[in-house]
Amino acid sequence: MVAGVHVRLWALSDLHLSHPLNREALSSLPAYPDDWLILAGDLVDGLFQLDWSFSVLTKKFKQLVWVPGNHELWTVPGRTGELRGVALYDKLVEVARCHGVITPKDPYPVFPHPTGSVLIAPLFLLYDYSFRPSSVGDDEVIAWARQGHSVCSDEYLLHPDPFPDRATWCAALCAEAAARLEAHPPGLPKVLINHYPLEEQHAVLPRVPRFTPWCGTRRTRGWHKRFNARAVIFGHLHIRGTSWVDGVPFQEVSLGYPSQWDRGRGIGGYLREVTLAPTGGCGS
Ligand SMILES: [Fe+2]
Ligand SMILES: [Fe+2]
Repeated sequence: MVAGVHVRLWALSDLHLSHPLNREALSSLPAYPDDWLILAGDLVDGLFQLDWSFSVLTKKFKQLVWVPGNHELWTVPGRTGELRGVALYDKLVEVARCHGVITPKDPYPVFPHPTGSVLIAPLFLLYDYSFRPSSVGDDEVIAWARQGHSVCSDEYLLHPDPFPDRATWCAALCAEAAARLEAHPPGLPKVLINHYPLEEQHAVLPRVPRFTPWCGTRRTRGWHKRFNARAVIFGHLHIRGTSWVDGVPFQEVSLGYPSQWDRGRGIGGYLREVTLAPTGGCGS
């Protein structure tokens, strides 16, 4: 970095580079050689094109921070490889580390923002079907979603091995992440990054309202306050926007499938600079 240069923190999710049109557009993304880029999941499907995607993006940014989305956890035999569940996640992390990409399994780095240093916390937390109306029981979720034509492909492609189910895996991931976050000084502000919304109020999908069970977990309710967040970054919904809760900006930063973004703007037009709460987040 050149002395005096303001290092910027960008975020983008759901690049879905398994789609050729999104891959083609990536080459036109300008380089930001001093800046960091947060990739909030759904970069590719499984391991397909993952190595290529990281090799392109690492040339354009000083530092990448990545969390997996559900698509990276997909096992599509003949296309993404045969690895499943935790073994697939471990392999994704191994590929990322080969490119110097920071993953949820690495020490959380400190980003030198001009308004004060922030801890960058990439999280992999999954979902547990708890984002649903209270009238829908545990064993009724899939049928309820099916009635709304909203069952997620994860039911067939995202395997929890060796956990018995995705909800159990989610519980383990949340417990581990919370313990790691708690081990950092509470006064150090954080940027929390997760593929899924941390708050149920953000899991709103007007076109597929019964897709919410695959959009997060109530276990993360209030984490922005509990862990002193100055920003929360997520994707998955393919509905871009920023909402403020308790003085903390929650940014959905997705690009999306080829039909969901304007190629005239290029991928660079969808990069979002991370907005930080003015001072110390919600201060609790
Ligand atoms: Fe996505
Ligand atoms: Fe997703």
